[in-house]
Amino acid sequence: MTDVEPGATRRRLAQELAVVAGFEDPRAPLEQYHTPPDLAAHIVHVADLQGDVEGRTVVDLGCGTGMLALGAALRGPARVVGVDVDDAPLATARKNERRVGARTDVSWIRADATVAPLCPPEPVTVLMNPPFGAQRGNEGADRAFLETATEVASVSYSVHNAGSESFVEAFAADEGGEVSHAFAAEFELPRQFDHHAEDTRTIDAEVFRIEWG
Ligand SMILES: C[S@@+](CC[C@H](N)C(=O)[O-])C[C@H]1O[C@@H](n2cnc3c(N)ncnc32)[C@H](O)[C@@H]1O
Repeated sequence: MTDVEPGATRRRLAQELAVVAGFEDPRAPLEQYHTPPDLAAHIVHVADLQGDVEGRTVVDLGCGTGMLALGAALRGPARVVGVDVDDAPLATARKNERRVGARTDVSWIRADATVAPLCPPEPVTVLMNPPFGAQRGNEGADRAFLETATEVASVSYSVHNAGSESFVEAFAADEGGEVSHAFAAEFELPRQFDHHAEDTRTIDAEVFRIEWG
């Protein structure tokens, strides 16, 4: 895929993803907030430029209402699978799929993404914005998602809390993988949980591309 004007196709993807509805009744213990369209478009665009989307199987672990899965579906993959443990966002994801109108169908699967719910025969690209483990009792949630990526993916893109670089690099190295790209991302989240005091809050995050050995 070639960028005619640098950034133009990424911006167009962000516009196409602007119709993706978020969580109707978000559940705090599952860290249900959706990735902003700009960040989702950035991740998918980088993945596409790396040759990790077109013609490939793309799996979104903890897909929520489908933002990353649908972003990938708009870029010509062979197939896309979205996995979430909760039925409600999956129902919204199906509606979002119709809104976005991607040519590639997405399979939406209700399953626990931390126990490798798939055994695909072909190399897979995982895209994920997993729970960071910010909730009490949920610490290390992103680690369990990375463990699934080691089992199903040849390459993965994952969003983590700022300050996760050394953890992610060490985890990847232990599993025979390597972080090939990393970038910082900042995004605003609207107030959606009772424990949030402000109307919006800024999340400092980091995104990693990992090649798994
Ligand atoms: C931060 S949200 C991201 C949602 C979506 N990927 C996006 O980018 O907009 C994390 C998602 O992970 C899901 N989730 C949490 N624990 C899970 C698990 N064990 N298995 C599958 N999905 C899970 C939540 O329901 C939620 O939809």
